[in-house]
Amino acid sequence: MQTITVDLKERAYPIHIAPEGWEALPHAIGESIGDRKAMVVCDQNTYRLYYESVKAALESRGCSVCPAVIPPGEASKSFEQAQALYTRALEAKLTRSSTIVALGGGVVGDLAGFIAATYMRGIGFTQIPTSLLAQVDSSVGGKVAINHPLAKNIIGAFYQPHMVFINPHTLKTLPPREFSTGMAELIKHAFIADSDFITWLEQNIEKLLSCDVGALAHALYRSCSIKARVVEQDERESGLRMILNFGHTIGHAIESATGYSKYTHGEAVAIGMVYEATLALHMGLIGQEYIKRLSSLLERAGLPTVLEAADWDLIFQRMAYDKKNVGSGITFALPTGYGKLEVFKGVAIDDIRQALIGMQHT
Ligand SMILES: NC(=O)c1ccc[n+]([C@@H]2O[C@H](COP(=O)([O-])OP(=O)(O)OC[C@H]3O[C@@H](n4cnc5c(N)ncnc54)[C@H](O)[C@@H]3O)[C@@H](O)[C@H]2O)c1
Ligand SMILES: [Zn+2]
Repeated sequence: MQTITVDLKERAYPIHIAPEGWEALPHAIGESIGDRKAMVVCDQNTYRLYYESVKAALESRGCSVCPAVIPPGEASKSFEQAQALYTRALEAKLTRSSTIVALGGGVVGDLAGFIAATYMRGIGFTQIPTSLLAQVDSSVGGKVAINHPLAKNIIGAFYQPHMVFINPHTLKTLPPREFSTGMAELIKHAFIADSDFITWLEQNIEKLLSCDVGALAHALYRSCSIKARVVEQDERESGLRMILNFGHTIGHAIESATGYSKYTHGEAVAIGMVYEATLALHMGLIGQEYIKRLSSLLERAGLPTVLEAADWDLIFQRMAYDKKNVGSGITFALPTGYGKLEVFKGVAIDDIRQALIGMQHT
């Protein structure tokens, strides 16, 4: 088992990456489990696949455990599911020193984390992410949220877990499209912060796609370390953390303009990264080779790199609505070299239009 510490002073916590699998979980749980009551939030898929293993590990540490199962899918990040979980927590008599365990993908992690942050003004929280996206991205950094019918992730908090435990074997049951979606964020981490990791991915991506546990553990370690280092320096997203947004300004606009149904988040971010890199090329920040290497890795990971039938006007409109845009023009985190990103404020819509629409015809 390898451990990364997210150093947020009094809220510091470990991320354990365990190629040994569930047998390492009791040790990771240690003695840190409060009053020894745990509610494990899962969706129907992760309940069926992994609840028994996690329950056994918690019980081996003297915990009493109850499950709370939600339907899979984004629709569960709702007020209704939140209320059902508060009820379940009250029925299970969870106290302020009890623990909520999130066992699942980003939907489970975001929802369960939101409950942990608000039930009794905050109780213990452990993340056991099971999708690649959750392992490299949503479980690290403490952003938790539910959706409002008018906007995604708009009701939330920054609430750090006490521990993250990653079992890479869980990725063997993940549907391939979900695996690819997580690969987009993993590849993003390499391009924003670690040019050696880009080369490593170029040499080892097939091993990751075939779920070679050694290769997965290595990639998870490097990817989580990158996100952890960024979060340490900017926990509440006031500056540096914006570099994690590479591909997301255009990616979010694509998701929203296509009704959150055509592309998964990672697919939209993959296209967004290529387009934002194209904008960086247009602004003279990087060369053509950057885009070739980025697109080639994304394509090898099974991700799209070009938008089909673009409705650009709608996409530009949605970009202007993005909650991260302040003042006039659009804020982008753009590459300035391999493993390097800078934030550019007030990029004019006309420049973006020229760069992107020009690209569609080349
Ligand atoms: N908090 C953050 O910083 C952050 C960052 C990125 C994304 N997110 C959020 O994460 C969510 C998306 O997360 P996701 O992509 O993990 O989606 P998800 O949680 O819906 O999981 C995707 C699907 O995979 C299934 N699944 C998960 N693990 C599995 C496994 N090991 N084997 C088989 N099936 C498995 C789930 O049941 C689900 O059907 C979005 O709501 C997004 O807003 C949050
Ligand atoms: Zn993302």
